[in-house]
Amino acid sequence: MIPRTTNLRRILPLAVTLAASTLGCSEGSTGPADDDAEPAHGRLRRAAAAAGKLLGAAVNSGALASDPTYAEILAREFDYVTPENATKWGPLEPADGTYSWANADTIVDLAEQNAQSVKGHTFVWHQQAPSWLNALGAEELRAAMKQHIETTLERYRGRVRAWDVVNEAVDTTTESGYTDSVFYRALGPSYIEDAFRFAREADPEVLLFYNEVGLERAGPKSNFTYELMRALLERGVPIDGIGFQSHVSIHRYPSLDNLRENIRRFAELGLRVNVSELDARTLLMPGDRDARWFAQRIAFQQVVGACVAEPGCEGVTLWGFTDRYSWINDEGEPDDPLVFDRDYAEKPAYDGVLAGLAGRLPVAGDNLVGNGDFSSGSERWTASEGELEVDAAAARDGSAACLRTRSAEDAAIQSADLREALSAGGPLAFSSVVLVQGAERATLEATLVVEEEGVGPRVLSLATVEANDTGWTELSGYVGLGFTAEPTNIVLKIGGAPAGVDVCLTQVELRPLSSP
Ligand code: XIL
Repeated sequence: MIPRTTNLRRILPLAVTLAASTLGCSEGSTGPADDDAEPAHGRLRRAAAAAGKLLGAAVNSGALASDPTYAEILAREFDYVTPENATKWGPLEPADGTYSWANADTIVDLAEQNAQSVKGHTFVWHQQAPSWLNALGAEELRAAMKQHIETTLERYRGRVRAWDVVNEAVDTTTESGYTDSVFYRALGPSYIEDAFRFAREADPEVLLFYNEVGLERAGPKSNFTYELMRALLERGVPIDGIGFQSHVSIHRYPSLDNLRENIRRFAELGLRVNVSELDARTLLMPGDRDARWFAQRIAFQQVVGACVAEPGCEGVTLWGFTDRYSWINDEGEPDDPLVFDRDYAEKPAYDGVLAGLAGRLPVAGDNLVGNGDFSSGSERWTASEGELEVDAAAARDGSAACLRTRSAEDAAIQSADLREALSAGGPLAFSSVVLVQGAERATLEATLVVEEEGVGPRVLSLATVEANDTGWTELSGYVGLGFTAEPTNIVLKIGGAPAGVDVCLTQVELRPLSSP
């Protein structure tokens, strides 16, 4: 069966691979003059095509209109684009029934000229929603949602590959687990499924995504969203894919295994997984720029590499590409979270994306934690409070340490001074396995406490996980370690459960990451 043209959009990235390989070369060689030829595809775009993955960037309409270098790099390096703001409900329909299509049209037109696919972002989100929604009653709001989705899908039918239909509906810090929004308050969680059904009715071909912040790391939010997707899919709600936003920090982000497992479980529900808004802040890691940018390179390589390694992941979209226009700069302190610097020079992170696309993953060196498997009893470990017992590990080979009679949440198992081993700083992979006793489950946290001359202690969170009393759970993550002054003490601490809950631990590792 030969798919209709619109169906081709659904079998990307194959279609993108073909488009990229035919367009880049054939137009160049058959075009009338070199000046008219398509600009050659850049290394990122070629590497993405070779990997069979989409590589996207969020597009800033202002920069696109005013900065030719920006437009040129966007066309050259990416094969997938997402309007950063232009297709959000507020910017698109600022007054009821009045649409401003101009910025969105520009992005879609340009994407076609550059043989790029487009992901629309986002129909239903509590932020950047137009204020006129606040005056509507429940049924009016549902009707407005339907109208908005239909009108927008109608305009871009066959030209936009996928849409984020609902964004950030989950918030596990609320009692319900859902984000407190104009939609949730009026309609309850049913608005989520309604939005997807309205979209599918309006366009049977376009891919429909649920997009969420913080999904990339294992934990309560990812678990809640997973259950939500499972329940919706079981009821036949038309959801094709899920976006892990992945606004990470080199100071802390999920381990490769965590991320891969998380991608895999959503993919096993039948969803296409996208890393949808990747950027990596660096400024929480003190120290010189080269060290920060190296750690950032590792972070990009790790996340992109995880997507490439997982068949269920169809691509990675960066939330912008140059530090010059990153949204992070407007969110408090300016940072440098992307792959081109402010003057469009390629950063080490650019090479990290390339390496990740080529399937090359960072390599972890020797374990820097002494007696991390407790084979020498409690040597090099203490209790910050409570009693530390080392014994044969429950239900696994080897030994484990358990901290008992903890009278406060901050009572932790604590390493000896790691200064000597960690003096070089840089990106580190932390891993361990944990268990609790005296409660069915409890959240545990691993931290690195860094004391420096003349500076108060800095507590770097390495990882958190919900541990249980029935089996060992992996507690792992990455950190970028930098120093503001000469360190005077560095210890690893594992604790965080409520007082009275015993914390058990073994296989503790901290390994430096490098990229050969
Ligand atoms: C951000 C844009 O980048 C900013 O320009 C805008 O001011 C606010 O929104 N999660 C999302 C994106 O889903 O839409 C957000 O984009 C970043 C966080």
